Amino acid sequence: MTVSFERRGDIAVALVDRPPVNAIDAEVRTGVLQAAQRAAADATIRALVVACRGRTFMSGADLSELGSTIPPPPYSEVLQALEDCNKPVVAAMHGTTLGGGLELAMACHYRCAVAGTRLGMPEITLGILPGAGGTQRLPRLVGMEHALDLLLSGTPIDAARALELGLVDEIVGADVIEGGVEYASRLLAMGAGPRPTASRPGPRGPLDEPTLAGALERHARALRGRTTQKSVFEALRAASELPISEGLKVEARLSAESLESAESRALRHVFFAERACSRIPGIDTSSGAAAELRRVAVIGAGTMGSGISMALADAGIPVSLIEKDRAALDRGLGIIRENYAQSAKRGRIDEATGQARQALIAGSLSLEPARDADLVIEAVFEDFDLKRSLLVEVDSIVSADAIIASNTSSLSLTALAAATRQPERVIGLHFFSPANVMRLLEIVRGARTSDATIRAGLALARKLRKTGVVVGDGFGFVGNRMMLDGYFREAELLLLQGVAPERIDSAMEEFGFAMGPNRVNDMAGIDVGTRVRQELTRRETRPPPYHVVSDALTALGHVGQKVGRGIYRYAPGSRSPLPDPELAPLVRALADKYGIAPREVSAGEIEQRCVLSLVNVGAQILDEGLAYRAADIDVIWTSGYGFPRSRGGPMFHADTLGLGRVVEAIERLGSSGDAHYWRVSPLLQGLAATGRTFADWDRSRES
Ligand SMILES: NC(=O)c1ccc[n+]([C@@H]2O[C@H](COP(=O)([O-])OP(=O)(O)OC[C@H]3O[C@@H](n4cnc5c(N)ncnc54)[C@H](O)[C@@H]3O)[C@@H](O)[C@H]2O)c1
Repeated sequence: MTVSFERRGDIAVALVDRPPVNAIDAEVRTGVLQAAQRAAADATIRALVVACRGRTFMSGADLSELGSTIPPPPYSEVLQALEDCNKPVVAAMHGTTLGGGLELAMACHYRCAVAGTRLGMPEITLGILPGAGGTQRLPRLVGMEHALDLLLSGTPIDAARALELGLVDEIVGADVIEGGVEYASRLLAMGAGPRPTASRPGPRGPLDEPTLAGALERHARALRGRTTQKSVFEALRAASELPISEGLKVEARLSAESLESAESRALRHVFFAERACSRIPGIDTSSGAAAELRRVAVIGAGTMGSGISMALADAGIPVSLIEKDRAALDRGLGIIRENYAQSAKRGRIDEATGQARQALIAGSLSLEPARDADLVIEAVFEDFDLKRSLLVEVDSIVSADAIIASNTSSLSLTALAAATRQPERVIGLHFFSPANVMRLLEIVRGARTSDATIRAGLALARKLRKTGVVVGDGFGFVGNRMMLDGYFREAELLLLQGVAPERIDSAMEEFGFAMGPNRVNDMAGIDVGTRVRQELTRRETRPPPYHVVSDALTALGHVGQKVGRGIYRYAPGSRSPLPDPELAPLVRALADKYGIAPREVSAGEIEQRCVLSLVNVGAQILDEGLAYRAADIDVIWTSGYGFPRSRGGPMFHADTLGLGRVVEAIERLGSSGDAHYWRVSPLLQGLAATGRTFADWDRSRES
């Protein structure tokens, strides 16, 4: 029985049991509706408690129903029946109560929750406006300002905060069903009756310009390039000005529109793509060997080694951090200590947690601790000979079933692994900087990496709460290859054609990137790319002018923000880019050398060239078998490289533009510019010719 109806004396309990997360599907809707009707009709029942079995209260719709015709009964009817019930209705919550789950709780007359329950309205993160009364009932319960914060941030709050805001009336003991029944009987004893949220007076606090401006400022980062907030404002305005029956109609219209919006389609694509990327064709990824990682050794306590150690410690995994000299080790451990201290100071973790995590990281000046590690990750300098000899040494001391990983960003994993006795257990774990923050993890499969090792890599990603994407062992793997061969290459060519860096950056920021390519290059360090390209030339060649501007700046020591000068200049201690008058003559001299004439380029062309170069290189990568799915590429670019999620990633964006149009545009770019560079990838050509999309291609390979 998905929703059982139990009697506890004169209190009825509607108990939802829909593993694993009590998603609100047709059976749940039907069951709750029937429970509300039965409680209303039965004169011996004096109150109804709605609660859930399993690990959580309801937390939203069954997302797989979205986009198709949703089977009856409509959710609004279920919630109306709860709200209209002639006996008090109590929502008793535990786990998480999100989205549609919270909308149900708000349609109940009273709300109680187990301590630690998390409540929120995350719909905006999928570009959706809540459609079951959330925008009308929430401001009536918590006031306009808090409603705005909850709806715009999408971030949940805990039960204690919800109690303060009036979203929850009572915190109950750990047994949610007992707690709910006990709370309901107390309400009855006090003579409490039904208390529909709808009949509360309109929201406390106005929805005026200063309130809106304040909310927009608080959530500016999350809302950049987004449009759903406009619907939130319109719905809240309806809540403040109209009777709830009318407000619900406005909300229903806006919610339906939001589901059809390009933004929502893109965000939902990324949401599903992030879940799908851990499934690898031909490998059973449901079980993972690394689930019981007892100890990990990280070699190299530089930027990446310290970050990776923190990522591991944050997941409760003990780490041995190994360095070759005392000063470097002390520096690395110092960075880690400082990082935890800062997190505690900013209130992100408490001090004890910071200390406990720090205590999980033990420094060492010898490789000895690697002996009994289940996983060894090397993050030493990007030097092939150094890494190879280190891996050989590690291979000779670790246990037979340990996994050996390299954090290389440009070297051939296959070549590195070839020097070891068991290349099957060697894997690339390409973390992104800062490794304890960035969610992306490229899991690199060398020519001989075994399925079991890949499974372990994916299990590690899960454990670290990172998005692990398995990629092939080509130059730059997937993300950096697309950045260097596509996005950055095009941005440089624009510089050589006389376009100011500010114009390139602002065109891409307008498109939705948090920072344009020149600002990113300066922030990451221009020399980093130069070093990677030097390694590249040992493996593959690229025709000039391939990043000649960046390489010239590296040679001059103008390597970016860290020295106060790169493509831009920076005042001491500042991260705000200022124009560098010496850049234009340097770029012009290089353009003359390579015969590149200055041109007028519109903002539209900047965007088109930077984005379509990503699409075309992405398609080449798929052609070469270096990524399993177009959607994996979208995950990599949205989670690791700042491509706007609200556009779904480069490949989804191309589908949205229409691949026929994309091919035409690339051919046009080739006929007026660099024909060699703008050669349409055969995969892209083929899909466009047959009227298919990258999504179709992904689907055809799933089956
Ligand atoms: N910095 C990034 O953004 C980034 C991103 C992804 C991957 N990577 C890759 O991660 C690796 C490390 O990069 P980083 O930026 O942390 O470099 P880094 O220079 O900050 O740190 C490297 C550390 O390795 C130590 N080391 C060198 N040889 C050693 C040895 N034999 N034994 C023990 N320790 C040794 C050095 O003392 C130094 O502290 C490189 O392969 C790099 O390509 C870097």
